[in-house]
Amino acid sequence: MSKNLLSISDLSKKEILDLIEFAKNFKQDDGSFRKEDLFPDKTIANVFCEPSTRTKSSFEIAAKNLGCSVVGFDISNSSIEKGESIFETVDALSLMGVDLCVLRHPESVIRDLAEYLPEIVFINGGEGSISHPTQALIDLMTIIEQKGTIDDLNIVIVGDLDHSRVTSSFVEGISNFSFNSLTFCGHPSMATKYANPVLGRYEPDLDAALHDADVVMTLRIQYERFEETLDLDLDEYKQAYQLTSEKLEQAKGDAIIMHPGPVNYVEISESVYQSEQSVIRNQIANGVAIRMAVLSRFLSS
Ligand code: CP
Repeated sequence: MSKNLLSISDLSKKEILDLIEFAKNFKQDDGSFRKEDLFPDKTIANVFCEPSTRTKSSFEIAAKNLGCSVVGFDISNSSIEKGESIFETVDALSLMGVDLCVLRHPESVIRDLAEYLPEIVFINGGEGSISHPTQALIDLMTIIEQKGTIDDLNIVIVGDLDHSRVTSSFVEGISNFSFNSLTFCGHPSMATKYANPVLGRYEPDLDAALHDADVVMTLRIQYERFEETLDLDLDEYKQAYQLTSEKLEQAKGDAIIMHPGPVNYVEISESVYQSEQSVIRNQIANGVAIRMAVLSRFLSS
């Protein structure tokens, strides 16, 4: 296993499946997580230079469940606000004894940081529109948990594909498996990178995309990543791309509905979010288990 988790491509299929199996061990029947004092001498820092609820909090909970100390770094009260670079910031944390840094950053800095500071372990907590490897592990774990396998499944991803680091990491991860079909669906202005995908196919019509689907992953519009103001009629957008109970009738009766969060109820209706087919809350809970597995592995290597 590589020293850092910068991309899901750093992991082989076996390593992905081993991490998912390992993560399952941290889940208890009552929905809580095992607490084991495995790393009392380790300190992790959560350096989040973009907002986060799920990733940041679940890494913190996972680390504390494993007995680590956690530096809950607050960028708005840090010396980054005084002009310090991310390199100097993480170097300072390393000199204070931080062993592992979970980094979320709007730009691609994590590889350069990992080269610049080889004494510290880096875990990618979200890299601009590029990658989000632990979310891909959560998504694969949730599919395997619900469906028993990834093989032979028809998988649909619908929403703002172009800005989705969740989609790019998921595609990298799922390329290890023998799924039946992978369909990308979204407004053409948000699907330019997926019009002719290397893996899977693009289908602009949501009803057609959903036909016989086993897994439907929905994505919010990431307004914060558009360089120009988005000129979009939201009612027309919802009419075409919102996952509603009516549209879901095209999918298989036991299809599961996923969403990495946060949910805006533009891309998915409240009734689908709350339906029995929705595993969105399972994904959030699996976030703690996966991050306990990731921290355990990468703190041990
Ligand atoms: N899925 C995800 O990364 O959520 P947060 O932005 O809340 O961490």
